[in-house]
Order: sequence, then structure tokens, then C-alpha cells
Amino acid sequence: MAVLFLYVATIIVSSFLFLYVHHHRRNSCRTPLLIDWPILGMLPQLLGNLWQFHDYVTNLLRQKGGTGEFMGPWFTNMNYIFTCDPLNVHHIMSENFDNYVKGSNFQEIFEPFGGGSVAADSETWKYRRASMQSMMRKMSFERMSEKSIQKKLQNCLLPILDHACSHEKVLDLQEVFSRLMFDETSIMILGYDPKSLSIEFPLIKAEKAFKEVMESIFYRNTVPISVWKFQKWLQIGNEKKLTEACKVFDQFLYSHISEKRQELIISKCNKSSDDDSLLSDIMMTTDQNGKMVFDDDKFVRDVAFNLYAGGRDTITSGLTWFLWLVATHPSVEAKILEEIKENFDAIDGKKRKVLGIEDVKKLIYLHGALCESLRLFPPIPIERKQSLKSDTLPSGHRISPNTSIILFTYAMGRFEEAWEKDCLKFKPERWISEKGKIKHISYYKFFSFNAGPRICLGKDVALFQMKIVAAAILRNYHIQVVENHPVTPAQSILLLMKHGLKVNIARRQV
Ligand code: HEM
Repeated sequence: MAVLFLYVATIIVSSFLFLYVHHHRRNSCRTPLLIDWPILGMLPQLLGNLWQFHDYVTNLLRQKGGTGEFMGPWFTNMNYIFTCDPLNVHHIMSENFDNYVKGSNFQEIFEPFGGGSVAADSETWKYRRASMQSMMRKMSFERMSEKSIQKKLQNCLLPILDHACSHEKVLDLQEVFSRLMFDETSIMILGYDPKSLSIEFPLIKAEKAFKEVMESIFYRNTVPISVWKFQKWLQIGNEKKLTEACKVFDQFLYSHISEKRQELIISKCNKSSDDDSLLSDIMMTTDQNGKMVFDDDKFVRDVAFNLYAGGRDTITSGLTWFLWLVATHPSVEAKILEEIKENFDAIDGKKRKVLGIEDVKKLIYLHGALCESLRLFPPIPIERKQSLKSDTLPSGHRISPNTSIILFTYAMGRFEEAWEKDCLKFKPERWISEKGKIKHISYYKFFSFNAGPRICLGKDVALFQMKIVAAAILRNYHIQVVENHPVTPAQSILLLMKHGLKVNIARRQV
């Protein structure tokens, strides 16, 4: 009863403080405050600043020299160390890797990820990562995704942009990318094209549900575990939304898993020649005795879910912020176009509307501009870890066993000590050496793809896909952001734009 009372009291008092701080936010919260309230700790400020969460924490970390402590409400296990110091990141992600795990808190919060590699730890994670890596190699993931993204651009994206030009229609580019990547990810994983990217923008329930799952997980990160668990138990608010969204998305995945199993049973595990899907490869993996290793549908569902999470919204986010930056920096746009012109238009007279992997490897400035955009707007803005044993970070902060640590990727890209005084400037030249080659910058400093043994498995695929899409759009169209369109991050575990990216599009003259 006492615990119940504490939950309710915490919710009520937090809500009042939230409303109070939210009401006064424009006057008072641009400058961070750090008050450790009795009982409620620093949570009211966090909730009051959710609307500007990433910038708020970045400012706090700047004031704290890169590492600070967040004290949550009493008895809620919500105390964190948060850091954007590259030395701490190197220590946690590599030097003392075995001491820092995703941990039980992460697994509970990221429950919809199931047993896939993103939430797994120790031997399970090692095994899952190695299987994923070998499957991606075996099915020549890069070549397959090149072929399928080129086809999608030719048949869907470019016709939609043409249609928008002809009808002078305002387009939400984020929505366009989100649909493009949902289709692309579905083709790669399930071998099925849901065709969510078409001129009518049809409502695809699974696509919408996936977005809601990501938003709900973000919310779980911002309140005490006891609060969201209580909501889950009552099936109210955000937790009700999460349960319903998971159900819709799982139904979508399981129906494809069961269809694929039937196909494989009928064909006695002989994949048809046009079935390139990752799902078939996973299901057909056998041990020395010819027994299927992954005959558990839940496991296959978890792998698929993790790949949707890893590959879909990350690229959507990366492309959206990139095109917004380019559209608002005409000098960068001119340099990208100049580079494309020098390498291709002068040779093939703009015959090919869509380039390939080998082509985009030549575009050094475009590479710099993309990395610069991923530095300022990392699609996954936060990484969570939990310590096993006590330790001391290079910044001098003491870590006790079971301490939750949040690595703020967003703040890392804006940390002056790592990137110099002009770190807030969009400057692709940062990534180009004096000899005009790509400059390698340590992943412990450019943390957008993670670093160390858990570095993103899809970073090369992601970069070339983004380059192919960006080059196809910029080479053929001029993009103008709608006047006064508000550009702010959404409250999600992925750095998407809250109001989308509304643009007008015009064809470029040949
Ligand atoms: C711009 C695009 C992308 C970004 C910024 C990105 C970033 C990241 C980050 C930060 C992680 C670490 C997550 C964590 O451990 O909490 C990660 C892991 C991972 N990513 Fe990506 N990713 C991108 C695209 C992709 C794509 C296209 C794929 C698949 C084809 C992919 C597959 C994975 C996988 C499988 C993991 C788990 C690795 C492990 O746990 O060992 N990613 N990614």
C-alpha cells in the first residue's frame, strides 16, 4: 500500500511540477537549472525540458565539463552518470568493455527488441553479432541493398518528386524517407515490398505502429521504471499505446515468418532464385547435423525487429537532417553539385539519374557533408550502459556496481573540447584532409555509429545508401524548406523531426 501511495504521489507531484515548469519554460528553462529537489530529485527539470531535451542536456554537460550526475526521485533507481567525454566513451566502450553491459534496466525498457543483438549482453550478444555478421556477408548484403535501393529510387522516389514538382505540392521529406526505408528494410529482411512509398501515401498500419513503439520506448527512458511499470500494469497512457503498437507490428512480422516457413517446408529448404531475403537465410541456417538452428519464430522475430530498428529510422533520420542542412547552406549544396558534375555529368551527360556504390565512393565532399550532418544530428542520440563492478572513469568520476551511464552522442558532436570552437558549424571540410582525401576521425569522438566491439554492423551499407539517395535527389532537384517551418527534434529514441521536413521541390535544369 505504501509503495502504491509513493507511486501515485510521485506521479501527481511530478505532473504539477511538470506543468509548472512547462508553463514557464520559455522564460526560465533556456538556461539549465540543476536543482536536486527532495523526494523528486532532478526529474521535474528533465520533464519540464523534454521539449528541448537534447539541447538542454548538451548545455548541462558543457557546464559540467563533459560528465555529470543525474539524481532521480528517491527509491526509483533512476540515478545516472551522464557523459559526452570521448575519453570516458573510449574507456566504457573499449578499454573496460567487459565491465559495461546493456544490463537489466536496458533490457526491460527496450523489451520490444526481445533477444536481438541490440539489447543482448556477454556470450548471447557475441553469438548474435557473429551470426548476423556472417549472414550479412553470405548474402552479399551491400550488393543486394544497392540493387534494391536503386530500383526503389527509379520506380518510386523520383516519380513522387516529379509529381510534387508538376503539381507544386509541398512534400514532407521525412515522411517520404520513412516510407522509402520501411519498404527497403522490408524487402531486405522479409523479401516483401509493402509499397508504403507511393503517390497516395497509403496508411500502412505496421509502419505507423513501428513509429509508435519507438516513441513509447523514449518515454520509458524519461520516467522512473516504477511509473511506467505501474502504467503497464493498469494498461493506461503510453503503455497502452505501446502494447497496441507492438501487437500490430508483431502480427505483421509473424505473418511473414509463418509464410516464409511454409514456403521453405514446401520447397524442402530450397530457396527460390528470386528470394534474397535475410529471413530465409536465417531460417535455413543449419547445424552439422542438418537441423535448423533458428526454428524458434520468436528468435526470428527478434532479429527482424532489431534490423528494422537499426536500419530503417536511422537512415530516415540521417537523410532528413542532412537535406535540411544542405537546403539551408547553399554554399555546401553548390560544392556537392560541383563534385557530382565533375565526376559524372561531364562524362555521361546526366544520363543516369541514380548512381551506384562504386560511383559514390568518388564523392569525397558528399561523404564529408554526410558525416558532418551525422555528427551534429546523430540518428541514435543516446547510448545506455550499466556497470558490473566499481571503476573510475578517466574524468575521475567514481562508478559503483550497477550504475546506469548515459553516453550522450548528440552532446558529443557538440563538445567544444573534442571539436574546437566552431563545433556548432556545419562544415564538411572538417572531414577532408589537405590532400583532398577522406580524413579518418576516431569513432570514440564521432560516436554516431557507436564504437569498439559493438560498432554498428550496417555503417558501410548505411553510408552508401544515404549517398545514393542524396546524390539522386540533389542532382535532379532543388529543395527549398517551407518558410517558417519549425524544425525541432521529436521525443523519440531516434532523432527524427517533430513536425517532419516540409519542402517545395523544383526540377534542376539540365
Ligand atoms: C545512419 C544509419 C545508422 C546509424 C547512425 C546506426 C547507428 C548504430 C548505433 C549507434 C548502434 C549501437 C546501438 C546500441 O548498441 O545501442 C548500432 C548497432 C547496430 N546497427 Fe546500426 N546504424 C545505422 C544503420 C544501420 C543499418 C542500415 C543496419 C543494417 C543493415 C544496421 C545494423 C546494426 C546492427 C545489427 C547493430 C547491433 C550491433 C551489435 O549489437 O553488436 N545499422 N547502429
